[in-house]
Amino acid sequence: MSKKPLSGKAAAVAGAGRGIGRAIALAFSRAGANLAICSRSIDELNEVKNSSEAHGVKCLVGVADITDPKATEAFCKAAIDEFGQMDILVNSAGVELESSKVESSDPERWWRTVEVNIRGPYLVTRFFLGGLAEGAKIINISSGLGLRAADWNSSYTVSKAGLHIFTEVLANELWPRKIDVNNLIPGPVATDMFNRGARGVRYTPEEILERFAKELPPGFSPQERIKHPDEVAELALYMATLPVGGPTGQTFSLGRRPF
Ligand SMILES: NC(=O)c1ccc[n+]([C@@H]2O[C@H](COP(=O)([O-])OP(=O)(O)OC[C@H]3O[C@@H](n4cnc5c(N)ncnc54)[C@H](OP(=O)(O)O)[C@@H]3O)[C@@H](O)[C@H]2O)c1
Repeated sequence: MSKKPLSGKAAAVAGAGRGIGRAIALAFSRAGANLAICSRSIDELNEVKNSSEAHGVKCLVGVADITDPKATEAFCKAAIDEFGQMDILVNSAGVELESSKVESSDPERWWRTVEVNIRGPYLVTRFFLGGLAEGAKIINISSGLGLRAADWNSSYTVSKAGLHIFTEVLANELWPRKIDVNNLIPGPVATDMFNRGARGVRYTPEEILERFAKELPPGFSPQERIKHPDEVAELALYMATLPVGGPTGQTFSLGRRPF
């Protein structure tokens, strides 16, 4: 039997309870990686644990709000204690809590969006750094909205722009340890976050794809295509399995339009 591409590796995925993070965690488990996963929803995490362990790997679950330093540090420490060192870190946890123009935005939701999308990946990365293996990969799930100015959604746009430059700073800091740090831009993906009109109800990616089969929501370029989260996981797996000394400080995109 041929060796799986991530056999013997340990991968942490923040925001793995559903959506893109869940798809990445499951793809990594199929590829043979042991997992450490976190979010705030234990039922979703346990579902991912059960599904991933069916592939013969171990999955450590941590309930943590990634804006809470104590809870985040406890999760990262438990993962490093369990696996010794981490080979891959994926920062997928993120929110889009408001999408209005600045004039009508809610100050609390605006700031909370920035907090989750920036302070969150910062804290997760900060507490994993000491336990990352030489040659590890960090993959930050970013957005094309972080690279161009829209006339709406400023909290999300500002937060993802910050994540882009955070990735580049980390790449500069970590190359001596042979740790590659890159952004992944998914483009529109059939997840709870994308399914804006249906807050509070969970739909499968297939149901969301069906809902938007004929038309994208307003604000999306018609040349875009909504993807299944598994398509993003394929790119994440590619990035996670690049040889040591590969690209770092770069942006890999599934978008279908220029930024
Ligand atoms: N879907 C898209 O079209 C799209 C496009 C471009 C970029 N992205 C980016 O892709 C990433 C994943 O998005 P998605 O579409 O998969 O969203 P999603 O389906 O809503 O999943 C988000 C995940 O992050 C977790 N999370 C949110 N806030 C958290 C917090 N404070 N602490 C810990 N975990 C938290 C959620 O769990 P809990 O709520 O239970 O904590 C959930 O597991 C995000 O960074 C997003 O900005 C998505």
